[in-house]
Amino acid sequence: MIEILGLSGSLREGSFNSALLRCARENVPTGARIDVASIRDIPLYDGDVEGRSGVPAPVAALKERIVAADALLIVTPEYNNSIPGVAKNAIDWLSRPVADIPRVFGGRIVGVIGASPGMRGTFAAQLAWLPVLRVLGTRPYFGATLYVPHAARAFDAQGLLVDAADLERLRAYLHGFVAYIAQARPAA
Ligand code: FNR
Repeated sequence: MIEILGLSGSLREGSFNSALLRCARENVPTGARIDVASIRDIPLYDGDVEGRSGVPAPVAALKERIVAADALLIVTPEYNNSIPGVAKNAIDWLSRPVADIPRVFGGRIVGVIGASPGMRGTFAAQLAWLPVLRVLGTRPYFGATLYVPHAARAFDAQGLLVDAADLERLRAYLHGFVAYIAQARPAA
């Protein structure tokens, strides 16, 4: 089984990105599973806290979930053409201490998708993730892209994708992503 850890970069209850992550979990191809994790319990990064007591327990726990997964799927909102602070803050804590970066992020396959009410569907935010993913030594998935624009009408009240074409694009993305993870994994 291919294990993917999914992170939504939004804390909002009605988040389009959390809805997209749930849709991804429900539509992942057979042989793969998306485990939905949350950044809600991650505090604001504070170097004094780290200096006194290391990484907080929720950060340490999430790091181990990343280590245990074959890949990470970041479902990112877009704020001011970039990464929302809460999502960047989570990755910043997860990258501490520096000596742990190779174990947690090194060579890790990472997919980035996202939804926004705007017409570009997180295009700018997804680009903004690239330098972060590069410095952490991850292996970003570049085989496909998924932008969900006009999110306010793309999801119904249950958070399901309304348009069959959007659902098809999500399935195609996941198909490629899972195939990429499968070929990258050492043979069992
Ligand atoms: C936004 N939003 C937004 N949308 C976008 O497409 N491009 C942008 O640059 C921004 N900038 C921005 C800044 C700030 C501070 C906020 C609060 C919002 C709108 C954003 O996409 C919208 O609130 C989404 O609903 C956020 O994602 P979730 O919470 O629905 O997952």
